[in-house]
Amino acid sequence: MIPPGTNGLPRDPRPATRDFLAHTGATLPLIGGPMYPCSNPELVAAISATGAIGVVQPMALTYVHGWEFRAGLRHIRSLTDRPIGFNALIEGSSKTYRKRMEEWIRISLEEGVRFFITSLGNPRWVVDLVGPHGGVVYHDVTEAKWAEKGLAGGALGLIAVNREAGGHAGGRSPAELFAELQRFDVPVVAAGGVGDAAGFRAMIDLGYAAVQCGTRFIATAECSASEAYKRAIVEAGADDVVLSERITGVPVAVLRTPYIEKMGTRAGPIARWLLRGRKTKHWMRGWYALRALRALKGSLSGGTGSAEYWQAGRSVAAIDRIESVAEVVAEMTGARLP
Ligand SMILES: Cc1cc2nc3c(=O)[nH]c(=O)nc-3n(C[C@H](O)[C@H](O)[C@H](O)COP(=O)(O)O)c2cc1C
Repeated sequence: MIPPGTNGLPRDPRPATRDFLAHTGATLPLIGGPMYPCSNPELVAAISATGAIGVVQPMALTYVHGWEFRAGLRHIRSLTDRPIGFNALIEGSSKTYRKRMEEWIRISLEEGVRFFITSLGNPRWVVDLVGPHGGVVYHDVTEAKWAEKGLAGGALGLIAVNREAGGHAGGRSPAELFAELQRFDVPVVAAGGVGDAAGFRAMIDLGYAAVQCGTRFIATAECSASEAYKRAIVEAGADDVVLSERITGVPVAVLRTPYIEKMGTRAGPIARWLLRGRKTKHWMRGWYALRALRALKGSLSGGTGSAEYWQAGRSVAAIDRIESVAEVVAEMTGARLP
């Protein structure tokens, strides 16, 4: 862990950052964002060990990396005793999935997790579940409309997903999104586009309380993604990142590989029509999601396999080598390594 006072921050960080650090238990204003399929437990642990906070993606932990959920959390705990977070994707399209998610959250609480990031849906039920145990919920948003909903549902902070982000990108630039969310007066975390110290600083200067990075942490020694995927991130420029609807039904940022070029990036006409309907939308996303989970799982191990769904955001432009997590965090935040 990086000792307090050497974390590159002013000794008296601004209130939003202080709230973020209090909410998460981190000593640095940096989140290692949840990543399906890339969040292997060793990566999450390595991020938290620096004083940033690593967030568990439960489907990645269980389905991709093969851990029984509680055992996976204990494995992380055996590698670091620093706080970790949990990502709850809560779009309520299936009862079975909701039950599974509730169970995962209960186990997370039992294993000491107190920081939760909810995506999609209304976070109220998660807040009600974790609040009595001192748990804090931050909600993923791409615009003010969702922030209002999330905060009304009891979230204490926002993860502002901008249009540069890896995974499901938003539509606004980091500056536009901050201007829109500032009025809510809660810690707002910038997600998307940060790959180095200059990017990190720029977000803090805009007024963000903290930064959430995904892509930067894939190109690290501790991430178990294939060397080919890591090298592709190091070699790519921002223009090599394209948005594809073909994977989950909503745009996902991926590297343009020959496979992606061949497949095209738009959903087919029938899928598009189904995605527009209120009811069929959930069903269609569910269908895409099942297929996507399988395909994305394959993308971790692949060299030049048939399905190169290499998710990455435009921060690839600032990533020029594969390093250890501690090196990445130290360079990005200015924190001194122990
Ligand atoms: C490979 C990959 C998978 C991701 N999977 C998820 C996910 O399962 N849940 C989630 O909330 N965010 C997911 N994200 C978003 C990240 O948590 C983070 O917000 C984003 O990567 C920030 O943008 P950056 O990649 O430019 O750093 C994913 C991002 C990437 C690159």
